[in-house]
Parts: sequence; C-alpha cells; structure tokens
Amino acid sequence: TEEKTLAIIKPDGLLGNYTERIKNVIMDSGFSILRETITQLDEERASTFYAEHSSKSFFSSLIKYMTSGPVLVIVLQKKNAVADWRTVIGPTDAVKAKVTHPNSIRAMCGLDLEKNCVHGSDSLQSAQREISFFFGEISSGELVGMH
Ligand code: CMP
Repeated sequence: TEEKTLAIIKPDGLLGNYTERIKNVIMDSGFSILRETITQLDEERASTFYAEHSSKSFFSSLIKYMTSGPVLVIVLQKKNAVADWRTVIGPTDAVKAKVTHPNSIRAMCGLDLEKNCVHGSDSLQSAQREISFFFGEISSGELVGMH
C-alpha cells in the first residue's frame, strides 16, 4: 500500500551540496516528493522532534548538530515508503554504511554515527508524527504542483 515517510537532509548534507545527488536517488528509487521545505530548527523544536532520544548520552550533541544549520525536510510517497527509504539511506552509522552498504546515501555523504546526513522515519507511526510535526495534516491525494 502507498505510504508516506519523512526524509530530512541534515545540516551537513545541505552544506556539502548533496541535495541534487540525494534527489536523484529519491527519483531513481521511485519515490514521489509530496512536500518539501527548508527550515532552521531551534533547540526547542529539535528537542521536541527527537524527544524519544532525550535520555540518551548523545542527545545534547544531536541537538547541537541538528541546529547547526538549515535542514531540508521532504515528504516522500511510494509503496512501502517507510522501509524502502530506510534501505536507500543505509545504516545509522555512516562509517559502517561505507563498508556494508556502499551504494547507500549515508555511505555517499555521511561522516559517522551522528553526522549521518539524512533522516528516515523508523515506522509508519513515526512517519505520521514527524510529517505532522513539520507540515500539519496532508490530504492523501496531494502532490507537489497540483494545488
Ligand atoms: P536518526 O536515526 O535520523 O535520528 C537519531 C539520530 O541520532 C541519528 O540519526 C544520528 O544522527 C544520532 N545518533 C544515533 N545514535 C547515535 C549515537 N550512538 N551517537 C551519536 N549520535 C547518534
């Protein structure tokens, strides 16, 4: 069934000019882009977005990273979008991705376990929460350019 998922090109991905290459992978992998926006997260918004990690040792470092510059937030749609986008981006740790998934996006532009250049929702439930966090409710038939 058709699903939506949330992708984020993180500050290092935008700074490193990886947007075009990442979008090519998005298109080649059969995703439609429903929405996109560039935004600068502040500490409060980043902490809310990553609330599930608030007790982790890396939390403050993660918030510092994600607020270090603008991010590009994208709503993707296709069949099985949540799992397929996770496959396309590769493992969380970009160092490992370069070894085990050399064709993944994180292998291409990620640096390490934290600075992994892209985000993908980890479940359908997370995707719905994350999409409304940035965009509010999106009607099911909506496509970029059609409204
Ligand atoms: P992501 O899976 O998109 O969302 C949580 C982020 O926290 C993750 O990407 C990394 O950027 C970061 N992260 C996850 N695990 C660690 C870790 N062990 N150390 C540092 N950063 C991490």
